[in-house]
Amino acid sequence: MNKELKYQELLSLAKALIDTNVDDIANMANISRLIMDSIPNHWVGFYRVVHNSLVLGPFNGPIACTVIEYGDGVCGTAWASKQTQVVADVHQFPGHIACSSATNSEIVVPCFRDGEVFAVLDIDSDSFNSFDKIDSKYLEELVSYL
Ligand code: SME
Repeated sequence: MNKELKYQELLSLAKALIDTNVDDIANMANISRLIMDSIPNHWVGFYRVVHNSLVLGPFNGPIACTVIEYGDGVCGTAWASKQTQVVADVHQFPGHIACSSATNSEIVVPCFRDGEVFAVLDIDSDSFNSFDKIDSKYLEELVSYL
């Protein structure tokens, strides 16, 4: 199945699964697993803005860094810039936070509520250059359901 079709299927499953009457943790837990099932990668998960830091939320994959500060690493840059970060080679990204030495490329998508970033979705791949505009487009739509 091509990537766009896979994402279209993923988005319709995500829409059905997300229950905005419950807290973010429950939805993020299911969405992390859903993404891992449909687009397998090294690490898929969320960091939530808690007291002005990004704090590790629900994820699938190896143990990760617990706290990331504003502007730090790829996640902190996505938060500060309010822009999706697509990083073809994390070793070239200034300040990249290496939670796992197996990660070679990464995408981080900010999640907005009332115009402010309340979380980021982070997907790490052990291959280089795994993510592109198609990933940004669909993942940005997916996180808008939260
Ligand atoms: N690499 C990220 C940190 C999070 S972990 O990869 C799960 C960053 O540079 O922000």
